[in-house]
Amino acid sequence: MNATIEFDGKKYELPVITGSEKENAIDISKLRGQSGGLITIDPGFKNTGSCESKITFLNGEEGILRYRGYSIEELAANASFLEVAYLLIFGELPTQNELDNFFDDIKEESHVDEEMKKILDGFPKSAHPMGVVSSLTNALIAFNPSSVNVDSEEDMYKAIIKILAKFPVLCAWALRKRTGQPLDYGDNDLGYVENVLKMMFKKPNKDYEVDPVVASALNKLLILHADHEQNCSTSTVRIVGSSHAGLFASISAGVSALWGPLHGGANQAVIEMLEAIKEDGGDTKKFMAKAKDKNDPFRLMGFGHRVYKNFDPRAKIIKKSADEVLGNLGIQDPVLDIAKGLEKEALEDSYFVDRKLYPNVDFYSGIIYRALGIPTDMFTVMFALGRLPGWIAQWREMRLKKEPIGRPRQVYTGENHRAYTNINNR
Ligand code: CMC
Repeated sequence: MNATIEFDGKKYELPVITGSEKENAIDISKLRGQSGGLITIDPGFKNTGSCESKITFLNGEEGILRYRGYSIEELAANASFLEVAYLLIFGELPTQNELDNFFDDIKEESHVDEEMKKILDGFPKSAHPMGVVSSLTNALIAFNPSSVNVDSEEDMYKAIIKILAKFPVLCAWALRKRTGQPLDYGDNDLGYVENVLKMMFKKPNKDYEVDPVVASALNKLLILHADHEQNCSTSTVRIVGSSHAGLFASISAGVSALWGPLHGGANQAVIEMLEAIKEDGGDTKKFMAKAKDKNDPFRLMGFGHRVYKNFDPRAKIIKKSADEVLGNLGIQDPVLDIAKGLEKEALEDSYFVDRKLYPNVDFYSGIIYRALGIPTDMFTVMFALGRLPGWIAQWREMRLKKEPIGRPRQVYTGENHRAYTNINNR
């Protein structure tokens, strides 16, 4: 199948690539060469595919999300986070033996160089944990190989194991620094998710009992966040990695990209918004009006998505889970009612309906994180922990396919050539 572009009296035949779910894309990779300079422009990449990928399928119109062909609903209901990590990275669900070996290898690497503590020490206690985690991930490079030989399966595997093992330690340390707790390591007798909880919350003078309700809720949240094809942070990871910067450098950049409130930072922004509405007396209509007012920069955080134009399947699962988790833990959080009220109003409001704005993954996740005892400014770190396998899988795919360096073009709209003026004559 071909597509034809006609420009300035000339026609250019371009191949069309069809994906396994019948999505078509015009391959413009030869357009500039064929036409002597014609390029396409698409700010925000709203219509541009940056790669072919076998990892995650997302259909925004029908609200479908699948990792390696498995539906997010089935994975969230049945799988462990580590199984999903293996699936995303290596393409198949692991056998029990493969999973055990994978986890044993991770446990072997679940420590970081003690010198890293000095780096953390240099941060003020008030530092945002996302900045700390991004910096510490980058600092890990100094203690580990800065680049990976992608022609060696073994080297690739080792780097992947190291980051899966060490990243949760860094996330826990970011929290412990903030809460004034001594830096510690986890417990290799626990599962991956249980260990994350213990590393975060264990007090120095008290044993930590993992609550199965809390562990199961976190397991589900991490799975729901594990990959989402070419989103802002994943594209960042792929583009940084495309320069052959190492895995850790690429992940560190991904953490920074995720931090923004339009991306992963929305989960923190949602709770802050819900709290602000509560403090203001709970008048959701007032905030709905602000969100619709084009002269007001306020947006309804946790609403809208670049790809989902019907519903976000992750939000559906999380909303149900929020009710269950708060019920099981015996917690009544007034912001859950405010969130439900806002959702109901938005779904009946033509502004939101016309623009196809629905609650996204971040709308209810913060309410669960809060019920699990996780502080607000750690919410996006939890997202990063969940997204880590997705970033790794996408980086691995990109390097194994030997994709070229990511380097977009532009349309220059600045000054034409002009002569330099001496500073005294300006
Ligand atoms: N509240 C009010 N209006 C909105 C919102 C919102 N949350 N989201 C989009 N709009 C309006 C926007 O003003 C625009 O209106 P108009 O056509 O009149 O100019 C229209 O809807 C389309 O919005 P857009 O900004 O062009 O859409 P986008 O695809 O570039 O942005 C988004 C997607 C997620 C950045 C945006 O919906 C948003 O800012 N949402 C709030 C932040 C948020 O919840 N982010 C988390 C996203 S999901 C998880 C993740 O990726 O990390």
